[in-house]
Amino acid sequence: MKQRLLFLGPPGAGKGTQAQRLAESQGLLHLSTGDLLRAEVAAGSALGKEAEAVMARGELVSDALVLAIVRSRLEQQAAAGGGGWLLDGFPRNVAQADALAELLEELGQQIELVVLMELDDAVLVQRLLSRGRADDNEAVIRHRLEVYRQQTEPLIAYYRERNLLAPVEAAGTVEEIGARITALLA
Ligand code: AP5
Repeated sequence: MKQRLLFLGPPGAGKGTQAQRLAESQGLLHLSTGDLLRAEVAAGSALGKEAEAVMARGELVSDALVLAIVRSRLEQQAAAGGGGWLLDGFPRNVAQADALAELLEELGQQIELVVLMELDDAVLVQRLLSRGRADDNEAVIRHRLEVYRQQTEPLIAYYRERNLLAPVEAAGTVEEIGARITALLA
């Protein structure tokens, strides 16, 4: 079973929902850069203060900041004996993807699959409006989608060229989508 995975897809596609479910059932480390950043904001740390306004606008926080977070977690896990992981919301642009490749080379690890969750914009927007997180108002959602198209979508070609991309239809129930993802990991 593949156990070093990336979850890619637009805001609201269900990356976090599916990543958490899979990480729990398979005993994988779930690293969501969004969740880790929101925890820093809630704790009022220096890092959180730097990220808060950027996140509220729906833009990307600096590559250096998110890379430092991911590096420390993956190094900790490797030092504790390794294991599977699932990165959700990272990488978010080509520079982050290149930095992740370097980090994994240092750790002697490889990405085994990139799950691309695909869903119509109308459904994404509806899901996010019903959730109502601090950055889930219509104007910021539209901006997050634009940022996704400009900065994150190039990663689809990036990982397709590396034969790692596995697209998944992200419409349906949480269980249906989970079964589609599990089928890809055999
Ligand atoms: P992040 O937290 O990564 O947010 P996002 O990509 O916008 O993703 P969402 O959490 O909105 O959506 P999701 O696909 O995870 O869907 P979810 O499962 O939650 O990033 C937030 C911000 O942090 C960014 O804007 C940026 O500022 C910063 N950031 C994060 N990572 C960064 C990075 N690497 N570099 C720079 N900046 C970074 O589901 C959404 C909703 O739909 C939920 O309410 C859920 O219950 C519901 N739902 C899920 N599945 C279904 C289903 N099948 N049917 C019906 N409802 C469903």
